[in-house]
Amino acid sequence: MAKKVILIHNTSDPSLPESAAEEGVMETVEAVEQVLRQRGRSFFRLPLTPPLSAAASSLERLPKESLIFNLFEGFPGDPSSEIQVGLLIKALGLRATGCPPMAMHLGLHKPLAKRLLAAEGIPTAAGLHVRRTEEVPESLPFPFPAFLKPAANDASHGIGPASVVQDRASLIERLNDLLDRFPQGVLVESFLTGRELNCSVVATAEGPRPLPPSLVDYSALPPGYPPVLTFEAKWAPESPVYQQTPTLCPAPVEPALSDRVRQLALLSYRALGCRGYARVDLREDGEGSLRVLEVNPNPDLAPSAGLAKQARSAGWDYARLVSTILGSAEKGEPWTFE
Ligand SMILES: Nc1ncnc2c1ncn2[C@@H]1O[C@H](COP(=O)(O)OP(=O)(O)O)[C@@H](O)[C@H]1O
Ligand SMILES: [Mg+2]
Repeated sequence: MAKKVILIHNTSDPSLPESAAEEGVMETVEAVEQVLRQRGRSFFRLPLTPPLSAAASSLERLPKESLIFNLFEGFPGDPSSEIQVGLLIKALGLRATGCPPMAMHLGLHKPLAKRLLAAEGIPTAAGLHVRRTEEVPESLPFPFPAFLKPAANDASHGIGPASVVQDRASLIERLNDLLDRFPQGVLVESFLTGRELNCSVVATAEGPRPLPPSLVDYSALPPGYPPVLTFEAKWAPESPVYQQTPTLCPAPVEPALSDRVRQLALLSYRALGCRGYARVDLREDGEGSLRVLEVNPNPDLAPSAGLAKQARSAGWDYARLVSTILGSAEKGEPWTFE
């Protein structure tokens, strides 16, 4: 008999800054439920709220033969709790969709992920992980402009127009702002000025498959606003910059670039030990060479988000995408050392 599906998900806390990033999860929960209903699967929702001990008790009570559909993106304002919930699932010997906790951890820890990618020969932006202002060298190992982002966060938290800096004084100013908010430190990277693309990889019976990439179109932004997916551009649908940064899928780029994006996405998925599904963000440098910005294990699965668009462009409807993700969790190896 088919296993019962338990949809675990986070909730959002509108009192916290930048809470818009977590609000979308209910749209995904409803869309996935609709697919499960169509497929005649029995399921129920399990919202997880802090503290972690309460989430642990809820998970402990689940029958061992349950199949978890993991839509948990972390407690509001606490991205690393996504990894802790992954570890609980693994410790309880439950099966779940998507990436194991090791890949979640590497995806969130951008400096560590960059080292692993580099060890596999995958190009990334030149960068430094800075935890204290004093650690910034007198001259950077790459020319300005530089780009500053939290070293261990996601969803464009902490990313705005001031993330791009042209000189040392503005770098130190931005760094101090970020270090106050993000104690895990800051990645100071070379600002890549070329086209930005992203590519999702989904595990299928034939192995992980990179889908047709998307291009972020910055051409409608007003002069002076940097070509970057800031928090506002990603999560504030009413803001002009959101509307001025559409994502085009399939990416209107030359086939050789699209092929290279897919190749790098697949290599990055493997390098970080991803399973089920992930999305890789990439950008060209000033010379037109592609570099991986980051890997997103268990990316946004909303029907309106990039992954579903890329699946549609490969000829998969949403139901097929959800069923593929569920199928690989059901049939694949359980999480072991990852
Ligand atoms: N080194 C960089 N050069 C240029 N743009 C960058 C760089 N790093 C990040 N960005 C921009 O910032 C956005 C968010 O950064 P990313 O590394 O994808 O982190 P996250 O999406 O987890 O917040 C990217 O989509 C891109 O627009
Ligand atoms: Mg990103």
